[in-house]
Amino acid sequence: MKKYAVLILLVCQAPFLSAQDMAETPPMGFMSWNYFGTDISAEKLIEIADAMGATGMVDAGYDHIFIDDGWQGGRDNKNNLIPDPDKFPEGMKAFVDSIHKRDMKVGIYSDAAPLTCAGFTASLHFEKQDAKTFADWGIDYLKYDYCHAPEDVETAQTRYTTMGDALKESDRDIVYAACEWGQRDPWKWVSDAGAQLWRTTYDVRDKWKNKSDDDNAMGIMDIVAINAELDEYAGPGHWNDPDMLVVGLYGKDGPSGDLGGTGATDVEYQSQMSLWSLMAAPLMVTNDVRDMNDATKRILLNEDILAIDQDSLGKQAKRKINDDTWMVFVKPLSDGDYAIGVLNKSDKGQKFKMKLKGLGLAGTYNSFDVWSKAEKSKLQKLKDTIASHETKVWRLSESQKP
Ligand code: GAL
Repeated sequence: MKKYAVLILLVCQAPFLSAQDMAETPPMGFMSWNYFGTDISAEKLIEIADAMGATGMVDAGYDHIFIDDGWQGGRDNKNNLIPDPDKFPEGMKAFVDSIHKRDMKVGIYSDAAPLTCAGFTASLHFEKQDAKTFADWGIDYLKYDYCHAPEDVETAQTRYTTMGDALKESDRDIVYAACEWGQRDPWKWVSDAGAQLWRTTYDVRDKWKNKSDDDNAMGIMDIVAINAELDEYAGPGHWNDPDMLVVGLYGKDGPSGDLGGTGATDVEYQSQMSLWSLMAAPLMVTNDVRDMNDATKRILLNEDILAIDQDSLGKQAKRKINDDTWMVFVKPLSDGDYAIGVLNKSDKGQKFKMKLKGLGLAGTYNSFDVWSKAEKSKLQKLKDTIASHETKVWRLSESQKP
């Protein structure tokens, strides 16, 4: 009798176990929105996938093509979602197969309302059918947006749960990414609806900081202000998503170029990469990877910063200091090391000096600067000159206990 009870328990838990195992580290890849907007096609995305293979991005871990809004061509006479035939002439299954053949995975996009943000067909009342369609196509990830939907949290919970349940019932592991822009504290409830990650803010624009009165015109710093406070909610299989990387866009026209998104400097782009990695964020690049300059490659392909983002412990850094000049982050890593990030928010270069004890690290440490690769041994304090808007990141290994 007892044996059967155990068996039933195991069988009942099986789908949930597999769902919990998804997105054990923050998802990575290329997301189509900031660069292409709705002007996407199978041809362009395959070019991007090939460039990602050729430049080493796939090997570095950027292993998804995330198709954002604009792929949809409505529904067929059985109400099955279909892709726009001009953009995906061979159909979606053929496109997904060709990406899988390149050892990459595919993300797709829909919305918890009749229409998406850009006005295309979305999934409300078709959740089961659409989840099955996505599974049949071989989709690996769904970004589920919340345009044209009611504001209250109860409706959001119901709609995200309905799609979450539909994905669980489909016969494929599909990572579920909620996108209601952090407006209803999704970090508190959306993982119960089945999501492995959730956007915490409105869209990032290609700039350092919002200088207007429009809350929607967020730059890198405005996103950090919100996301850095949410470390307790992050962990394997449940991530805060502070939106895409704008690294290497340099003010390109398009969604991230709107609302004053006229570009940032390479120092600022490197800071975004550092801060996103310290915050264990999903890393969705959006620049044209077919044509990357050396600075962009250096930022996106730095394996030491990527190792901090993808660390298996899955801790989001705690922000220990946030004064007028400095932000200081501490991220514990799976091998006992710590990643320490120091951002100079001010408009001029500054000398930084701090005892490690002040960050709760009482021993003696060897340090490795993940950007300059400089190594120092037996430290009890950090000392460096940090440029305006630069984020230094050190990996510290304990060399002597306190
Ligand atoms: C927004 C979303 C963006 C992008 C866009 C597509 O709501 O935050 O990341 O997906 O919709 O229309």
